[in-house]
Order: sequence, then structure tokens, then C-alpha cells
Amino acid sequence: MKKKYLNFIRGVSINKIGFTGVVLTTSSFVAMIFLELLRIAGVLTNAYIGLITYLLLPTLFVIGLVFIPFGWFKYKKESGKTAKELLDRQFTVEELEKNKLGSTLTRTVLIFTLVNVLFLSIASMRMLQFMDEPVFCGTACHSVMGPEWATYQVSPHSRVACVSCHVGEGVGALIDSKLNGTWQMISVTFNLLERPIPTPVHQLRPSRETCEKCHWPEKFYGSKIKSIVHYSTDEISSPKYTTLVLKIDSGEEVGKSGIHWHIGKSNQIRYASIEDEREEMLWVEVLKNNGTVKRFINKKHTDIEYNYKDVRIMDCVDCHNRATHIYEDPIDAVDKRIRKGLIDHSLPFVKREAVGAIISSFTTADLANQIIQNHILSFYRENYPNLLGTKGESIDKAISTLQNVYNTNIHYGMNVDWGVYPNFLGHKNGSGCFRCHNKDLVDEISTPIKSDCTMCHSILANDSPQPFTYLKNATNENRDSAMHVYLKNEFLEYSIK
Ligand code: HEC
Ligand code: HEC
Ligand code: HEC
Ligand code: HEC
Ligand code: HEC
Repeated sequence: MKKKYLNFIRGVSINKIGFTGVVLTTSSFVAMIFLELLRIAGVLTNAYIGLITYLLLPTLFVIGLVFIPFGWFKYKKESGKTAKELLDRQFTVEELEKNKLGSTLTRTVLIFTLVNVLFLSIASMRMLQFMDEPVFCGTACHSVMGPEWATYQVSPHSRVACVSCHVGEGVGALIDSKLNGTWQMISVTFNLLERPIPTPVHQLRPSRETCEKCHWPEKFYGSKIKSIVHYSTDEISSPKYTTLVLKIDSGEEVGKSGIHWHIGKSNQIRYASIEDEREEMLWVEVLKNNGTVKRFINKKHTDIEYNYKDVRIMDCVDCHNRATHIYEDPIDAVDKRIRKGLIDHSLPFVKREAVGAIISSFTTADLANQIIQNHILSFYRENYPNLLGTKGESIDKAISTLQNVYNTNIHYGMNVDWGVYPNFLGHKNGSGCFRCHNKDLVDEISTPIKSDCTMCHSILANDSPQPFTYLKNATNENRDSAMHVYLKNEFLEYSIK
């Protein structure tokens, strides 16, 4: 058997090209089986190996297969010999001898072809499977998906496959995504891609087919406490607390529900926005199951025409546009790291200097890392030299934490800088919820969509010295006494409902 195989190999290696083909095909075949066995045995667990096993090796295998006939063809043309003459030269008489089942050579070729077809079908099945894995989506065209991959890995969905949100279920979704993927590959190859990748992503599947497979609207009820700490820029980076009780109920009726009312079963919210950018609304409509429609029109833009195909039905992504690719704000990012203890709160002026170190953008990650390090080190060297000895470790940790914040958020090659991808979840700078909850969107009797401060959340502290300031008893002289009384009543009333 071994001899037969070796004879065959020697036979097909007619020249250097043929020989290279044989070597490529055989070695990639053996390597792939070897890597796959190691994976099945649980020895190889690194997901990146898939790039080699299912992409590189099968490609080499096919290239090798193409080389073999090409070598023969070239040799035949150059030597001017006929196919029969070449066969006679390369193979023994026994191999070429005809019998009932064809010559030994024909049989060997048939068996090899069968093995190749089988091998390639299995490899391409595994390749398709692998192409649905996050590590492929995130790293195959590394420079392009860099920002999304970096933010994905530290997000609440880091264990959810990209395709669960980006492809959805069903054959239609699969074909759509493969067509879209092919187009993306072409745009990457010919550098037609816009940088940064523009949002909103219009071709995202409706959330019903993606998010709602794992989170369903009936599940949202009650409220959720969110405590936020901002640190000041003074020497001790004094903490200031904001505590919100977010009313995340879903429900059907206005006035009796909460934030997830918009996706309640009997409601459908539709809107049109300028240039379909979902930033500035032209009108917003509430359609109820019972057929009633309530329309709010933006009184600033009554003259703008819109295209009917650009009318959008609101879903999860209109608020959770940054469900996974959460780009931070530099100030909030530093606050979060101080709070987690990754940046030592006791370092003097640490908030001010940390933000100062990361706020600018630099052409390469290496340069950024260097400048961040210099910024922090030189500040403490010049102003608190003895801290370099006593708090050296804390300072180093702060530096590496800041470099990490920077490299997760800033991707120079894709023009992703601070603030490029806004988050619609809150109302920073009048965006987010306030795109609709503002005084310009009014119904037929000029009543705007509600936006009072306690509709979406109770506020138990707002940049206050303590996390629950407004629940304390306040004296009348207190500047915020009205707020205390109001919010205290509001909160107590809400919590016993
Ligand atoms: C939990 C759902 C979810 C997962 C998982 C997910 N994405 Fe996204 N992705 C989104 C949403 C939502 C948007 C933003 C849509 C918008 O702004 O219109 C988005 C946007 C994007 C964009 C456009 C640019 C941007 O940053 O907004 C790219 C590219 C992208 N995702 C790639 C990926 C890749 C690659 C993975 C896996 C490594 C992945 N996504 C995993 C939900 C997800
Ligand atoms: C395959 C299942 C799956 C899909 C699909 C999915 N999620 Fe999630 N999501 C999860 C899991 C699991 C968590 C919980 C993570 C945790 O508790 O740390 C989560 C957490 C969340 C959170 C809470 C985040 C936080 O900070 O605690 C939000 C908001 C969310 N998902 C929104 C979405 C949206 C919007 C989509 C669609 C674009 C979506 N999810 C799609 C599984 C999924
Ligand atoms: C009107 C805006 C809006 C819409 C639409 C919306 N959400 Fe939310 N959602 C929020 C806000 C605001 C929060 C609270 C944010 C926080 O926890 O910081 C939240 C919280 C959540 C949480 C975390 C709940 C918890 O108990 O911690 C999940 C999960 C979630 N949403 C999923 C979804 C899904 C899935 C959809 C679509 C079916 C959806 N949301 C639609 C605004 C919205
Ligand atoms: C596309 C427009 C739009 C966006 C964006 C939007 N809302 Fe609304 N929201 C509405 C409309 C319309 C109503 C109903 C107003 C009415 O009928 O009076 C409403 C009602 C509400 C209600 C009242 C529910 C009740 O039971 O009374 C809450 C709470 C709410 N929204 C929270 C939010 C939050 C939080 C966000 C941002 C995360 C947000 N909304 C973003 C359009 C929007
Ligand atoms: C339409 C719903 C809605 C209305 C109306 C609303 N908020 Fe908010 N607010 C939110 C949501 C959602 C967040 C973000 C929660 C999160 O971070 O996940 C938020 C966040 C905040 C924060 C924390 C910001 C931070 O990160 O430090 C403050 C403070 C705040 N709101 C105050 C107010 C005040 C004051 C008003 C009245 C003028 C108001 N809100 C009206 C929904 C609303």
C-alpha cells in the first residue's frame, strides 16, 4: 500500500511544479487532520487556530491540487510528448495495465479524487461553521473590524455570537448576510469602505428575530437602581454620586408602564427622521392594536419631505444602539476605572491627569501608549516625586489601565475617535431619549411628548456628596429642599405601587 502510494506520488510529480503541488496537498491534508484531532481531543482550545485549520490549510490544499495538472500540462507543452508517452515514462507497466476494473492507475486516481471530494466537503462545512464564529468575524479582516472586535470582547454580549445579532434566523437572513459579506469583502479589497463604518446599520435584522430570541419584552418589569459616580478634578478627586431608579417596566398603556412601553405587544412606534439618520425626528406615531393612531409632528421641520420607505418601526436598537459595541466617553471611562479600583483613587489629581493623558488622539497605538505613560510619569515625577517610590505599583497600574482604555476605544486606522459612535441610551447632549422626548414634537393640540424628569427615572442623588441624598430629611433652608420633598414622595410612592 505504502509502496503503491509512493510510486503514485513519484509518478504525478512530473516536474518542480507537480512536485510542489504534491507536497502542498499532502502536507496541508496531514496538518489539517492533525490540528482537527488535537482540537477534538481538547488539546487545542485557542479559537484563532480555526483561521489556520479551516482557512489557510484548505486553501493550500486546493492550490496544491491545481498545481499537479498544471505541471503536467506545462511539461507536455514544453516537451512536445503525447499523454501516452508521458504516462509510460512516469508509471510502470503494471500500473498502466488494463484489467476488468480499469488500470491500477485509474483506480488510484479515482480513490484519491473521492478522498479529495470528501475531504473538501467536510472542510468547507467546517469552514462555513467557523465563519459564523465571532473570532472569524472579528479578526479575519482585522483592521476593519478592529473597533467592533475590541468593544465586543469587553461587552455584556462577549459570549453571544456576532451572527446572533447580525444575521438572525432563516434562509433569507443567511443569504442576505452572505451577499452582504461578499460585498464587504469586495469593499475591503478595493478600499471602498467608509471609515468609520457609518451608522445606523440599516440592514440590521429586526430585533424580533435577534434580541428577542434571548430577551423578551414581558420580562422587563419593576425598576433598576443605577448608581453612577463622577470624580471631580480636585486634588483628592472628590466623588459625586448620581443614583437613578430606572423604571424599566414594559406595558401596554401610557402612564401605567415604563421605559419598555415602546416595545409592548399592543404598541407600535413609527417615525421618520432627517436623512434617515435616526437623529432628528420629523414625526413620531403611536399605533395601537385597536387601530388608534397618535401623531407627534416636529414643529421645527414641518416643511421637510421624507421618503415613505425610510419610515422606521422602533425596536430595541433605537435605544440600545450600543448593545455590544460600547464606545466610552473618556471622562466616564476614567470614572469607571477609578471606581473599580483599577486606578488608585488616592493618587493626587488622578482624575484630572488620567483624562488629560487619554483625551487626545495619536497616529499609532505604540505612540499613544508611550505618550500616556510619559504624561502620567512626568506629572508625578515633577509634582510628587516620592510617590514614584511609595506608590510606584499603583502608578504603573494606572498607566496600563489607561493604555487599555485608549486602545479599546480609539482606532486610528478606522477613524474611530472619542464620540464617533453616540450612545442613545440616555440623553447626553440632548440626544438619545430626547430625540423624541422634547418640546418640539407635538400632537394636534400642541402637547409635546412628555419629558418630565421623573417619568423615566426617580433621582435619588444628582452629583451629590452621598448616593441617597434626596431620601434624607431636609430642612427648609436647604437649597434643594423642594427636590428632597418631591423626590422622596415620588420614590416612596413608586416603590409601594
Ligand atoms: C448583542 C448584539 C450584537 C452582537 C453580539 C454583535 N453586534 Fe455588531 N452591532 C450590533 C448593533 C445593535 C449595532 C449598531 C447598529 C446601529 O447603530 O445602527 C452593531 C454594529 C456593528 C457594526 C457597525 C459599526 C459600529 O460599531 O456600530 C459592525 C462592523 C459590527 N456591528 C460588527 C460586529 C462583529 C464583528 C461582531 C462580533 C465580533 C458583532 N458585531 C457582534 C449588535 C451586535
Ligand atoms: C444569544 C442571546 C442574546 C442575544 C441574541 C442578545 N442578547 Fe442581550 N444579553 C444576553 C445575555 C446572556 C446577557 C447578560 C449578560 C450578563 O448578565 O452579564 C445580555 C445582556 C443584555 C443587556 C444588559 C446589559 C448590561 O449592561 O447589563 C442589554 C441591554 C441587552 N442584553 C440588550 C440586547 C439587545 C438590544 C440585543 C439585540 C441587538 C441583544 N441583547 C441580543 C444574551 C443575548
Ligand atoms: C425606549 C428605549 C428602549 C427600548 C426601545 C428598549 N430598551 Fe431596553 N432598556 C432601556 C433603558 C433606558 C434601560 C436601562 C439602562 C441601564 O440599565 O443602564 C434598558 C434596560 C434593558 C435591559 C437590562 C434590564 C435589567 O434588568 O438590567 C435589557 C436586557 C434590555 N433593556 C433589553 C431590551 C430589548 C431586548 C429591547 C427590545 C425588545 C429593548 N431593551 C428595548 C431602553 C430601551
Ligand atoms: C422614536 C421616538 C422615541 C424615542 C427615541 C424614545 N421614546 Fe419614549 N416615548 C415615545 C412616545 C411617542 C411616547 C408616548 C407619548 C404619549 O403617548 O404621550 C413615549 C413614552 C415613553 C414613556 C412613558 C410610558 C408610560 O407608561 O407613560 C417612557 C417612560 C419613555 N417613553 C421612556 C423613554 C426612554 C428612557 C427613552 C430613551 C432611552 C425613550 N423613551 C426614547 C417616543 C420615543
Ligand atoms: C425619556 C426618559 C428620560 C427623561 C424624560 C429624563 N431622563 Fe435622565 N436619564 C434617562 C436615561 C435612560 C438615562 C441613562 C441611564 C443609563 O446610564 O443607563 C438618564 C440619565 C440621567 C442622569 C445621569 C447622567 C450621568 O451619566 O451622569 C441624570 C443626572 C439625569 N438623567 C437627569 C435627568 C433630569 C434632570 C431630567 C429632567 C430634565 C431627566 N433626566 C429626564 C432617561 C430620562
